[in-house]
Amino acid sequence: MKGIILAGGKATRLYPVTKGICKQLLPVYDKPMVYYPLSVLMLAGIKEILLISTAVDIPRFKQLLGNGKDLGLKLSFAVQKEPKGIAESFLIAEKFIGKDSVALILGDNIFYGHNMGEFLKNASTLTEGGVIFGYYVKDPQRYGVIEFDKCCNVISIEEKPKNPKSNFVVCGLYFYDNQVIKIARGLKPSKRGELEITDVNKVYLKKNKLKVNLLGRGYAWLDTGTHDALIDASIFIKTVEERQGLKIGCIEEIAYRSGYINKKQLEKLAKGINTDYGEYLKRVCLDEK
Ligand code: DAU
Repeated sequence: MKGIILAGGKATRLYPVTKGICKQLLPVYDKPMVYYPLSVLMLAGIKEILLISTAVDIPRFKQLLGNGKDLGLKLSFAVQKEPKGIAESFLIAEKFIGKDSVALILGDNIFYGHNMGEFLKNASTLTEGGVIFGYYVKDPQRYGVIEFDKCCNVISIEEKPKNPKSNFVVCGLYFYDNQVIKIARGLKPSKRGELEITDVNKVYLKKNKLKVNLLGRGYAWLDTGTHDALIDASIFIKTVEERQGLKIGCIEEIAYRSGYINKKQLEKLAKGINTDYGEYLKRVCLDEK
């Protein structure tokens, strides 16, 4: 399975912060935001990843992540000229996806919870249809909303409805079979002028090929869309990291513990980082995997 991180857009809700730098490069406590979605794909066992962003920001992502070799990954980059919708990713990534299935994660999505790795690895074994994730929120009208029947079967998904039919919404992490390219090709722009990911999900739903995994209340799916949400996310990460002495979304640690890189390679990465983050990596080097 291939992976895509969509990290474009204008993030005007965070202005003036995002006037000079894109949202997904902003810090969430001790690391750039993009580390969190990247770590999710890595935990799913995905090593070939395409990052899509604006022409202005791609060089900065390249500077941050390189070609992924240091992490045992194969990273490549592609430009989205205008934010024409999340589903446009599959058209931009068509060649990259080839004949494989694909996971897409939004570059501003942060997930945290017990057994996340297992959850993700299961989803990545998909060979047919789609797997998406649902989460209970208090403000569902801001998202894709999932409607269930009495037996908990999904009966509809609506994008930002005025009158949401439930509090369960679709998270920014999607796993699809190769049909997604064809489906994306057939989409028409919505009223807001975007190729909607919700329309992709509706096609799978209609074919009875969409599985929705609900993330329970023990999981955290954090928002980073406003100034308040951004600082809340940082405080959440800091609180858990300080209590446990373990890091969340630490891509170097995940690469090491997943066997993508060896101890020597991790030591090299740690040496280049002269902060607590680097000290942490040095401690991980002393651990057994
Ligand atoms: O966060 C989950 C929600 O993401 C889902 O529940 C919705 O169904 C889905 O449509 C989407 O909601 P939004 O439309 O509000 O997403 P937003 O426009 O905020 O874009 C999400 C991220 O993707 C954001 O960081 C910018 C980036 N993006 C977005 C678009 C439309 C791009 O890089 N390119 C794009 O064309």
